Amino acid sequence: MTVDRIGVSLQGRLLEDFDRLVRSEGFPSRSEALRELIRRALVRERREAGGEVVGTITFVYRHDVGMVTHRILHRQHDFLGTIRATAHTHLNDETCLEVLIVEGDAGRVQQLADRLKTTKGVLFAETVVAAADIV
Ligand code: NI
Repeated sequence: MTVDRIGVSLQGRLLEDFDRLVRSEGFPSRSEALRELIRRALVRERREAGGEVVGTITFVYRHDVGMVTHRILHRQHDFLGTIRATAHTHLNDETCLEVLIVEGDAGRVQQLADRLKTTKGVLFAETVVAAADIV
């Protein structure tokens, strides 16, 4: 892959804060930090505008609330083409953690995440997405 060099001008305070971020997050260089920030912004744009993404939806739920397990399964079956894999672990007597590996249109992934997090009994849900072509 060809690498082009660019110059970036930053005023003092912004550069100081950026360098602090580079150190605190452990980036090996400013360039590496900038690349990561750019990728993150591009993925966020993809997520908002729609387009192909891959990622995970992680959620925690109380399996003893109403028909929550049934509802969650039912909702997942509505998204067959989006869910590639699932993992489930039992956290304690009442609570389960589930991770879905998802792929597809960002809007569809968001729709699935919204439907899961608004299911009664779901305590927490978080989506993380990336894009295979944003390198
Ligand atoms: Ni469980």
